[in-house]
Amino acid sequence: MNLEDTIYKRQSIRKYEKSPLGPEILNELRNFISNAKVLNPDIDWSYDIVGPKNFRMLQRFKPPHALLLFSETKQNYLQNIGFIFQQVDLYLQSRGIGSCWIGAGNPKNYDNPNPEQKFIILMVFGKPQGEIYRERSQFERKIVCEISDERDSKLIPAQLAPSAANSQTWYFTHNDDGSYNLYRNKPKFRLNKKMDAWNQIDMGIALAHMYVANQETFKFSLDKPHEELKDKVFEGSFTI
Ligand SMILES: Cc1cc2nc3c(=O)[nH]c(=O)nc-3n(C[C@H](O)[C@H](O)[C@H](O)COP(=O)(O)O)c2cc1C
Repeated sequence: MNLEDTIYKRQSIRKYEKSPLGPEILNELRNFISNAKVLNPDIDWSYDIVGPKNFRMLQRFKPPHALLLFSETKQNYLQNIGFIFQQVDLYLQSRGIGSCWIGAGNPKNYDNPNPEQKFIILMVFGKPQGEIYRERSQFERKIVCEISDERDSKLIPAQLAPSAANSQTWYFTHNDDGSYNLYRNKPKFRLNKKMDAWNQIDMGIALAHMYVANQETFKFSLDKPHEELKDKVFEGSFTI
């Protein structure tokens, strides 16, 4: 399956086979990551692929691998990590490999190799136990009218994107020149003090789905003049 078709089938996988993936598959993954599109080329980031001894997570399930994600903390670095690694989530799932973003997790017995970059989040992956894909009717998502100022089927890839606790805090508006603005809803209350950061990662994840569905035309800009909206944070604009 290609990455675009995977948008309509993927789901977070929380049951894994114990056995690790082979070195060839991990090398292909490294190769995919080095060719993934970045949102902001001015930000240095890095990753490592580790086994169960080098990460811990709040939940009980036991994935055989994790990607530890690191970045410089400048400009839209959280968006940038979400954008790059949502392409990786789609890549893994397109190959029948299960994956799940894990906010509630950390490296363990692991020395950060580059103090210029901070640990941001992890993504676990491995052979899924059971069915990897789901049907479109099984996505629990807001309707497009709730996440946009207009009913617009071009936004369906973003509508289906994963987000922390399925919070879907994105909001899209349409500009007269055909471009879109992306806003993040400010939380009414905060369940978890990390939620603000996770929701910024979510913005990059939604943008990644818009990119994958419009690979030839997608262009992103962080600082176009825009309208301020009440209780929302401007996150950039894009054309598709
Ligand atoms: C930034 C981020 C953090 C997440 N953290 C966790 C987590 O700690 N544990 C977990 O089981 N799922 C986590 N998820 C997965 C979401 O719960 C999941 O994407 C969302 O409920 C939508 O479901 P879906 O991915 O199956 O479409 C996270 C997702 C994102 C984007």
